[in-house]
Amino acid sequence: MKIGVPKETAAGEHRVALVPETVRSLSKTEGVELVVEAGAGGEAGHPDSQYSEAGAAVGSAADVAAADVIVRVDLPNSGEIAGMRSGQTLISHLSPWTSAETNAALAQAGVTAFAMEAIPRTTRAQAMDALSSQATAAGYAATLIAARESGRFWGMLTTAAGTIRPAKVMVLGAGVAGLQAVATAKRIGAIVTGFDIRRAAWEQIASLGGRPLELDFIPDAEGEGGYARPLTDEENEQVRDALAENAARQDVIITTAAIPGRPAPILITEAAVANMEPGSVIVDLAAETGGNCELTEAGQTVERDGVKIIGPRNLASELPGHASQLYAKNVENLLGLMITDEGKFELDFEDDIIDAACVAHEGEIRGERTAR
Ligand SMILES: NC(=O)c1ccc[n+]([C@@H]2O[C@H](COP(=O)([O-])OP(=O)(O)OC[C@H]3O[C@@H](n4cnc5c(N)ncnc54)[C@H](O)[C@@H]3O)[C@@H](O)[C@H]2O)c1
Repeated sequence: MKIGVPKETAAGEHRVALVPETVRSLSKTEGVELVVEAGAGGEAGHPDSQYSEAGAAVGSAADVAAADVIVRVDLPNSGEIAGMRSGQTLISHLSPWTSAETNAALAQAGVTAFAMEAIPRTTRAQAMDALSSQATAAGYAATLIAARESGRFWGMLTTAAGTIRPAKVMVLGAGVAGLQAVATAKRIGAIVTGFDIRRAAWEQIASLGGRPLELDFIPDAEGEGGYARPLTDEENEQVRDALAENAARQDVIITTAAIPGRPAPILITEAAVANMEPGSVIVDLAAETGGNCELTEAGQTVERDGVKIIGPRNLASELPGHASQLYAKNVENLLGLMITDEGKFELDFEDDIIDAACVAHEGEIRGERTAR
């Protein structure tokens, strides 16, 4: 059984699906061979020589495309899917709930496709949860970008030339990425406020040294599977008003609020930005799904009244070394459910993780949500 690792082709993608450490452990299983495309790990700090030393063959894109199982980070483009053969297995981010064409093309090609986004958020699946590992990298990267762009110290300093007051940072949305932003901003020395519409997140913000903004006129919005439910228009209005008041006191706002499968909620309006001090910075992690700030443009930095609104895309890729390391471990753990001790590839659809993560098999699109 051969596992192939291509060099990623999406613009701005610096990660790689397997790092040498995971290649080394996977190649220990009898019957498992690995082939890595030349240069695949270069941007994540892993030259080809490290893959060879770890037990993989280094080959061409065609060598990788011929493997039984292909593991990648970003969804393949239509040309890459057209080059796949029936019966091949693909493990990758696939945007299964927003990229219907990809689902259809994979099913039509007869590929068995596993979407890393569809791994269930259960305790047993935690070691395979790429949404969490990559959100951790994104939250960290967003905070460092905000720190750099703010042009100021974040911690308090007492110097002969005067005292610097600590930066005030507000984090909106306290899921995996938001909590990492709270923790990182706190470590750099800022005074951190965090907000989420799930009450359970308030305690988590406080446990990281942040001050939870307790807007308790909104009932707890925890919905299915621990995710937030969408707010009503009236609730959204109330939240935006309260945040506008708080936004005016912040030097930096990092936004991460998301509702799975929906456009990002608008939390910071144009009017709220107008009330912020010139020199303030907003980093909007939700840029790719429409943004939490009304002025965000994905992939751009917008300047309005001296406030910078940064809408980065694919932030996890900004930390290619560690984001790849964590992603590779997620993939290795998933492969562990598919490869027997004798090196045979076997899919057990009775396993809830295999069942949930598989979005195409034997010509059919799988899963109610994916089909929808
Ligand atoms: N294995 C596990 O058990 C596991 C793993 C990861 C996450 N989780 C849980 O899944 C949930 C979602 O985590 P995520 O990081 O994937 O979330 P996410 O990326 O979908 O959303 C980010 C955050 O935005 C918040 N949000 C949505 N609308 C908002 C609004 N209008 N205002 C403010 N905040 C808003 C959400 O509550 C969430 O905390 C959390 O409860 C988390 O603890 C569980």
